[in-house]
Amino acid sequence: MDKSDQKEGKKNMFITFEGIEGSGKTTQIKYINDFLKSKGYDVILTREPGGTEIGKKIRSILLNPLNKNINSLTELLLYLADRVQHIKEIIEPALNSGKIVLCDRYMDASVVYQGFARGLGIDFIYQLHNILIPDIRPNLTFLLDLDPNIGLFRARKQIINGDRPSKEIRFEEESILFHKKVREGYLKIAGIDPCRFKIIDASLDENQIKNTISNYLLETI
Ligand code: TYD
Repeated sequence: MDKSDQKEGKKNMFITFEGIEGSGKTTQIKYINDFLKSKGYDVILTREPGGTEIGKKIRSILLNPLNKNINSLTELLLYLADRVQHIKEIIEPALNSGKIVLCDRYMDASVVYQGFARGLGIDFIYQLHNILIPDIRPNLTFLLDLDPNIGLFRARKQIINGDRPSKEIRFEEESILFHKKVREGYLKIAGIDPCRFKIIDASLDENQIKNTISNYLLETI
């Protein structure tokens, strides 16, 4: 995409970042946000769950480790409620005004965490999205792929250092088996849609990953 086209609002793009806990996607997405802005692109950075004020309230239910007995379907519906609000309030208006939207997790996370790892079924999650939000799909998704042993080690270090609030660690407390399933699920859906997914080796050096993603974007957008 020509940068001036994007500025004039002729082109938009929806780019998502996915991966297991501790895969470094939040660091990378912040860097890419700054990088694209420095190149003159009109970009917004957002996330799920919690990209809106209502979403922040839903996030506090979803991630609180005290809420251990949330039913899987309830969990899914809360993520969907967060997503619908997020789309209507933030994502759709931004795309309609020609912006590049960078989103830290989106529907693939529901497909993988709720559909695959919790066992609700991948097709069921796709069907619900096709009914509720048929139009908004990412153009490009970076999957930061990492061994869950490394990811969880990093994530738990963040908790100990106080970089992750203790009220938001419900998923970090899940078993290694659960996180292995999450990784497997991401690789499975990435394999089905190789045009949209760009798999990044998240065990590499942080700067190397930044360069890989930014160079890829410069060639693609
Ligand atoms: P967050 O603190 O944003 O973690 P991370 O930095 O790893 O993205 O927490 C989001 C958690 O919610 C994460 O463990 C994945 C989970 N999740 C789902 O289970 N389904 C979803 O649809 C989304 C968006 C996230």
